[in-house]
Amino acid sequence: MIILVGYATVEGQTRKIAEAVASAVESTGNHALLFDTALGGEYAVEHPVAAILCAPVHAARFPGSFAAYVGQEVAWLNTVPSAFVSVSMLIRSEFEEEREEATHFPDTLLSETGWKPRLIHRAAGALRYREYDFFKRWIIRRMAAHENAPTDVTRDHEFTDWTALAAFVQQFLASAKA
Ligand SMILES: Cc1cc2nc3c(=O)[nH]c(=O)nc-3n(C[C@H](O)[C@H](O)[C@H](O)COP(=O)(O)O)c2cc1C
Repeated sequence: MIILVGYATVEGQTRKIAEAVASAVESTGNHALLFDTALGGEYAVEHPVAAILCAPVHAARFPGSFAAYVGQEVAWLNTVPSAFVSVSMLIRSEFEEEREEATHFPDTLLSETGWKPRLIHRAAGALRYREYDFFKRWIIRRMAAHENAPTDVTRDHEFTDWTALAAFVQQFLASAKA
C-alpha cells in the first residue's frame, strides 16, 4: 500500500514524528509518501490509498496551513482510511485536567473541516529551548514550570514515546488493510 504521511511543523519535532511514522510504515513493506503540508506539491500521481497526518499544537491550535490543507483534501481524506497524530505538551502534564484539555485539541479542527479520521493518536512533543527566540523561550519556560516540566533552557527536552507511536502505526495499518 502507498500511505501518505503528511505533516506540519513549527520547530521540527512533528517532522521527526512523521519521519518515524514513515519508517514504521516502510518497515511493514508498505510505501510511505512523506509530505510537508505547508509546502504543497504533487503526490496524487502516486495514488496513496490511506493517510496519516501529523500536526503540532501551538497556542491551543494546529497551524493554519495544516487546517487549510485538511479542508482542501477533506473529500479525499474521508474516502480512504486515515489517522491523525496530534502533537502537544499538555498531553504529558501531571495535571489531569490539562491532559483532558489536550485530548480535545483535535475537536475544533475536525469539526471545522469535517475530517473523520479513523484513529487519533495523541503524542507528546518536545521543548526545543535552543531554537526559541528570547520571548518564546520565556513564555514556554513559564508554561513548563507550571507543569513541572523541565526548565533547563540550555538544552532541548524530548517527550515523544516512540514505542507507542510505532504501535499506533501498526494498529492503523492493520485496520486499513482490513
Ligand atoms: C510558542 C509555543 C506554543 C505552544 N503552545 C502549546 C499549547 O497551547 N498546548 C500544548 O499542549 N503545547 C503547546 N506547545 C508545545 C508544542 O506542541 C510542542 O513543543 C511540539 O513539540 C511542537 O511541535 P513542532 O516542533 O513540530 O512545532 C507550544 C510550543 C510553543 C513553542
